[in-house]
Amino acid sequence: MPNGDDTGRPILVLSNRLPFTVERRPRGLEKRHSAGGLVAALEPALCARGGTWVGWPGTELRPGEHLSSGGKPYRIAPVNLTDTDVDRYYHGFSNRTLWPLLHSFPALTRFDQRDFMSYERVNDRFAEAALAESKDTDLVWVHDYHLMLAPRLIRQGRPDVRLGFFLHVPFPPYDIFRLLPWDRQLLRGMLACDLIGFHVHGYARNFIDCVERRLGARVDQENLLVEHGDRTVQVGAYPIGIDFERFEGLASAAPARAGRRERVVLGVDRLDYTKGIPHRIRAFERLLELHPRHRENVVLLQLAVPSRAQVAEYRELKRDIDELVGRVNGRFATATWSPIRYLYRTLTPDRLTALYRDADVALITPLRDGMNLVAKEYVACQVEDPGVLVLSQLAGAAETMREAILVNPYDIDGTAEALHRALTMDEAERRSRMAALRRRERRDDVVSWTRSFLDAAASAHAALRPPSDEEFSAWLGRYLSRHRLALFLDYDGTLVPLCEHPRDAVLAEDVRETLRLVAARPDTDVAIVSGRSQADIRQMVGLPELIYAGNHGLEIVGADVPEFKHQDLVHYQGRTAELARKLRTLAADGAWVEEKGHTLTFHVRAVPEPRRRVLAEQARSMINDFGFQARDAHAAIEARPPIGWDKGRAVLHVLRERYGVSWSETVRVVYCGDDETDEDAFRLLAGLAVTFRVGSADTMSAATRRLPNVEAVHALLRWLARRPAPDL
Ligand code: UDP
Ligand code: G6P
Repeated sequence: MPNGDDTGRPILVLSNRLPFTVERRPRGLEKRHSAGGLVAALEPALCARGGTWVGWPGTELRPGEHLSSGGKPYRIAPVNLTDTDVDRYYHGFSNRTLWPLLHSFPALTRFDQRDFMSYERVNDRFAEAALAESKDTDLVWVHDYHLMLAPRLIRQGRPDVRLGFFLHVPFPPYDIFRLLPWDRQLLRGMLACDLIGFHVHGYARNFIDCVERRLGARVDQENLLVEHGDRTVQVGAYPIGIDFERFEGLASAAPARAGRRERVVLGVDRLDYTKGIPHRIRAFERLLELHPRHRENVVLLQLAVPSRAQVAEYRELKRDIDELVGRVNGRFATATWSPIRYLYRTLTPDRLTALYRDADVALITPLRDGMNLVAKEYVACQVEDPGVLVLSQLAGAAETMREAILVNPYDIDGTAEALHRALTMDEAERRSRMAALRRRERRDDVVSWTRSFLDAAASAHAALRPPSDEEFSAWLGRYLSRHRLALFLDYDGTLVPLCEHPRDAVLAEDVRETLRLVAARPDTDVAIVSGRSQADIRQMVGLPELIYAGNHGLEIVGADVPEFKHQDLVHYQGRTAELARKLRTLAADGAWVEEKGHTLTFHVRAVPEPRRRVLAEQARSMINDFGFQARDAHAAIEARPPIGWDKGRAVLHVLRERYGVSWSETVRVVYCGDDETDEDAFRLLAGLAVTFRVGSADTMSAATRRLPNVEAVHALLRWLARRPAPDL
């Protein structure tokens, strides 16, 4: 048990891999240790704390087949995947789409809708398994890129559970991540967590940047916070560590190397294109060219662990490496020496640690790597005459392992020279560098990583400050600096909080005053766009100088726009009243029908669940059968005549009538709204306006940005009233 950390509460862990991979053999199921950094990190955490590990066993289990954790102090909950799931979710979306994209290899990334659909289904299954196992825990910890959607589904089943997510790979910059057609779904999936952890600060910053730019969420870049739905999500950097004492112990116990002759440069990687193995071999070849003294004295011992061989890129890479090794060996080998010793297999921990211990140099040169545990394991195993770590700047590990010799793996000559320097470094420098590296890795080991992440997950309660003038200036200052403003505002849920009954949603006097001040500016016009009837909304707001679009824009009146009533309304005269009569037959248990002239609302706010859902569904069918359009609203179903018109068209109509067809030359548009009917406007105005979705609903939105509540809209209005006059 590493460092004896058995004080924590049992945890529920979800990851694609279990600590072992099952293979079906004639004698039955056989377990193999799973390779890779994720398992290496989680295994000690679960051994220390106990709990349950939910994951894929690697082989489809038959009915009645069970898996035990093999004497380990935690439970195993296998998630069975079919061959198709494995093909599409694992080889497909996880390994062909997310792995290359997250490692910033867009040219190798494949996009396939069917793979994503399978990924959704499998994430669903993991979430179900987690929910079934979650009764005794108040903390669920989801791992890695295979399961980015699962947190949202777990949150739906257990709204109060503490949820953490850790990504074991890099999170790329916005310009890369946004290539993914499903990027917004993945971000939303992760944001159901209380805490989202990355290896290094840069990945956390990239994530926050994507969330702000792709979801329009409010964020705090400094404190790494995201406002999402009705919660604030904490983001952070938690650089992972290793089980230092175990590696140190294994290295001390491994048998001594017999017959030492050449000096050894060691590379250990899964056979993966992110690891830079061909670049490394070329750098070694270059070393032999530039510094012939190393010929016959040094070997590159490269261990490549078989990985993801069903993916074409991995098979091609294997062929490339085989060929390259053959070429370099053919070029430099003598009768008694070959420059490269290449092993394509998995090694047991004691053989691996002996290799680490005895290597003079570890040459770890990934082209991109979330962290790289091999670098840390090498350091832990330097229990005798210390070697030198040559490490890629592009591995997360380089952020903290500053005493390593850092290289750019794409720079073949530079890497060859760094390798030469490592091979010729004097003992004093080697000891100083290695001592500092070892001290840090011993302190920041995997137990300390687990503890810091789980403590932070349990205590993450920070909340973002309400939106400030600085934020409004940053969002809108430049946008409004040379144009007039046409401000469009929804009413219920945007200017006033939603109420039990529409008549109770009264505009506060100070908000009316601010609205009046905004509209009084010579550079600003204000329009209210509501589902209420035009007469009703005009009376609720009570400012005759504004423009009013009622009934979702079917009727428009106000300053400087000709009165408008959609021409097709004549065809539906009397029909709305008839539909109202029908809907009233459903109006029981607190449901009621609001008649608004040309449209209707069937309100269900006062109806308890599950009856509420049933009544809403019945109303929706009735409206559709009647030939009207049914639309979701807050605790209500709206019924409108089937006229191709909505809030978006109404806004465009106002803009053209008020400022002419070339309106965009003179006027800038801002729109705030809180529900599905406002989404029509957000969609239509995309690129033509800055739009704000108000409220804490965790729904997808086409709006540019989010505002958390009605108070934030009031703050925006106050800023709009005071903002500097534009340079017209
Ligand atoms: N590893 C292994 N079997 C081997 C060689 C290596 O399990 O034969 C382990 C190694 O000890 C390390 C992990 O695989 O813990 C590799 O982790 P790393 O973070 O370096 O890279 P990843 O494979 O996760 O991309
Ligand atoms: C990396 C990933 C892990 C993965 C491991 C091995 O470390 O972050 O999630 O388990 O590679 O890859 P595999 O595809 O065999 O699980």
